[in-house]
Amino acid sequence: MSLVLAFETSCDDTAVALVRDGREVLASRRIDQNTLHAKYGGIIPEEAARQHLVAIHPCLQDVLDEANCTLDDVDHIAATLGPGLVGSLLVGVQVAKTLAFITEKPFVAVHHLQAHICSNFLDSDLAPPFLCLLVSGGHTQLMHVKSYTDTEVLGETLDDAVGEAYDKVARLMGLGFPGGPVVDALAALGDSSRFNLPIAVTKNKTDFSFSGLKTATLRVYEKESARCADETERETLIQDICASFQKAAVTALGKKMISTAQELGLSQLAVCGGVSANQGLRQYFDKRTAQFNTFFPKMSFCTDNAAMVGSAAYFCPLSNDDRLEVFSRHPIQTN
Ligand code: KG4
Ligand code: ZN
Repeated sequence: MSLVLAFETSCDDTAVALVRDGREVLASRRIDQNTLHAKYGGIIPEEAARQHLVAIHPCLQDVLDEANCTLDDVDHIAATLGPGLVGSLLVGVQVAKTLAFITEKPFVAVHHLQAHICSNFLDSDLAPPFLCLLVSGGHTQLMHVKSYTDTEVLGETLDDAVGEAYDKVARLMGLGFPGGPVVDALAALGDSSRFNLPIAVTKNKTDFSFSGLKTATLRVYEKESARCADETERETLIQDICASFQKAAVTALGKKMISTAQELGLSQLAVCGGVSANQGLRQYFDKRTAQFNTFFPKMSFCTDNAAMVGSAAYFCPLSNDDRLEVFSRHPIQTN
C-alpha cells in the first residue's frame, strides 16, 4: 500500500491530491487562475507563478482535511518536474521537496505528459497495452503505451497543439480564455455542415497539424462577420463556425487514432489532456468505437490536476537519468 501526496503546478492550475496505489483518489483540489488570465487573453507566466504561491497551502490543507490524513500517513511526496512554465513548476517542486525533507519521506518527480496518461488509471481498471491520444493546450501526441514505463510516441502535432488552436480561434472571435470549453459549448448549438474546414494531410500519417485549420477558421470568421446584418446573425455565425471547427478538429484526431489502433491490433483506446473534456470528441468515439474498449478520464481529471501526478508517481516515477527527456522523440519543449 502506498499513499502519495501529489502537487501539480506546471501551468496555471494549482493542484494537490492524495492518491492510494495509483488508482484510488482520497482527495483532490484545484484552484484555477482563469479569471486572472482572462484579462490578458492568455497565461502570463510571472503572474501564474505568484498565484501558485498564494494557492498552494490552502489547497494542501483542504486535501489533508478532506481525506482526514496528516503528513505522517503519507508514504511519498510527488510533484510535476516538467515540462511546463519554469516559475510555476518551481513552486510545486519546492513545496514538495521541502515537505519531503521535513518529514523524511521520499520525493518523487513526475513527467507532466506521463501524468496525463495516468489520469486514465484513476478510478478505473485500464492497464497497458493501449493506444493513447494526449490532447492538451501544449501537446498533441499519439502514443503506444506498451507498459507502465514504456511509451512510444508514434506521432505528434507539427505546429499548434489542438487545445492551442481552440484557444486561438476563441480569442480572435472574442470568446474569452480558455477558449476550449466555450467553443465546445457553442459548437453544440451550431450547424457543423455550414463551413467545410480543412483537415491537414501529413507526411507521417500519425502526425497532426492544426495551424491550417485555425487560419482557415479565422478567414471564414473575418469574411462572414463583415456580412452580418445584426447581433443575432453574428451569434448564429459564431455557433456555426465553432461547430464546423470542432467537427474538423475532432475528425482529424479521431480518425487517426482509430486507424492506428486497427493497424497495431490494439483493442484499448485512452484519451487524455484538457481537450479530452470535449463533448464533440467524446461523442465521436462513442459512435465509432464499439469494437474497442475506450477510456476517457473523469471530467475533473482531464485538465491539469494533481490526482494524475499521484498516479504517475506510483506507476512511472522519473529516475534521475530519465528526468525530462522520457518519451519525446524531440527534446521536450516548455508550453
Ligand atoms: O491539460 P491542460 O489543462 O493543460 C495543458 O497541459 O496544456 O489543457 C488545457 C487545454 C486548453 O487549451 C483548453 O482550452 C483545453 O484544454 N480544453 C478544451 C476543453 N476543456 C479544456 N478544449 C476543447 N473542449 C473542451 N471542453
Ligand atoms: Zn496538462
